[in-house]
Amino acid sequence: MSNLPPDMDPLETLSNAIADAPGVVAGAETLDGLDRIESELLGKDSPVGQVRAGMGRLGTDLKPKVGAKLNEATSRIRELVEARRAELEVIEEVRRLQSETIDVTLESVRFPTGSLHLVQQTIDEVVDIFVGLGYKVVEGPEAELAYYNFDALNTPATHPSRWEQDTMYLDWGAPQDEVLLRTHTSPVQARWMQSHDPPVYVVVPGRCYRKDTIDATHLPVFYQIEGLAVDENIQFSDLKGTLLHFAREFFGPQSEVRLRPSFFPFTEPSAELDVSCFACDGGVPGCRVCRGAGWLELLGCGMVDPFVLETAGYDPGKVSGFAFGMGPERIAMARHGIDSLRHFIENDIRFLSQF
Ligand code: DAH
Repeated sequence: MSNLPPDMDPLETLSNAIADAPGVVAGAETLDGLDRIESELLGKDSPVGQVRAGMGRLGTDLKPKVGAKLNEATSRIRELVEARRAELEVIEEVRRLQSETIDVTLESVRFPTGSLHLVQQTIDEVVDIFVGLGYKVVEGPEAELAYYNFDALNTPATHPSRWEQDTMYLDWGAPQDEVLLRTHTSPVQARWMQSHDPPVYVVVPGRCYRKDTIDATHLPVFYQIEGLAVDENIQFSDLKGTLLHFAREFFGPQSEVRLRPSFFPFTEPSAELDVSCFACDGGVPGCRVCRGAGWLELLGCGMVDPFVLETAGYDPGKVSGFAFGMGPERIAMARHGIDSLRHFIENDIRFLSQF
């Protein structure tokens, strides 16, 4: 195969190859294409390659001339190929950069990001404040035994709040088997104490249910955050100091609290806690937050009734405690001047995205 065809003049072949090369090399559009063209021009099967292979059989008169021409053709073609390679490298680099260019002025597709619901944000914030004081976060069942929801909390079967009108029962029956949707988070007090020794410092966030019709101040499904501290020698002043700390963390360092006498079956004495209005700092007529009262009602609290301690298996002679229960919706409303509980359940993005 390396034989030159008998009628082929090696000098003419090389001259033709030199003459044709510029056009052929210039036709290479890519680096890969150029590699192919290079082997077509200089490879074994190319005319130049065949002249190279036939050199041994040339007579001594022709050999020097053909040899010189062969060198000339080879180096000329190589030069052309290398020059074209340099050009193509630049062209391909430019092409690559263009294809990878990002138009930073182009508007991206934006997906709206969600956020935690205001009630959840409020729960997290309140819980964090108590965790900072060393409280543990615990939870209890929403479908609760009437025993824990009522009896263990000093609310006997004759108490009016046990009636069906106030409560959603899942299972009527023998008193010890009655199951209802819990009306407050307080049953977790009894559950926790029954299964843990003192000291107890817990906060209990969770959902509660009542047979209420929706209006600006009632929801049939709502949240509470319960607090319980039981230890040796816990006093009423501990309750007030703890809640003052909470109020200052949540509503601002200038906040003051006041306790008003109240009644809950499971605390004695019982109180309602008010916090000074953070918006007007005390009784500006027409204040949008406190409506001139100067105080915002915040939560119910008190010293844990000895009956509750005893029922849970604690010795009221050795330990005492305080408890409180607050509604995160209510304190979020107070803080943000929200006028209706309905906003929390309507899923109106215009409301939700403000927080
Ligand atoms: N469980 C009460 C309610 O739902 C709130 C409450 C009041 C909880 C006083 C307490 C407390 O722990 O001490 O109205």
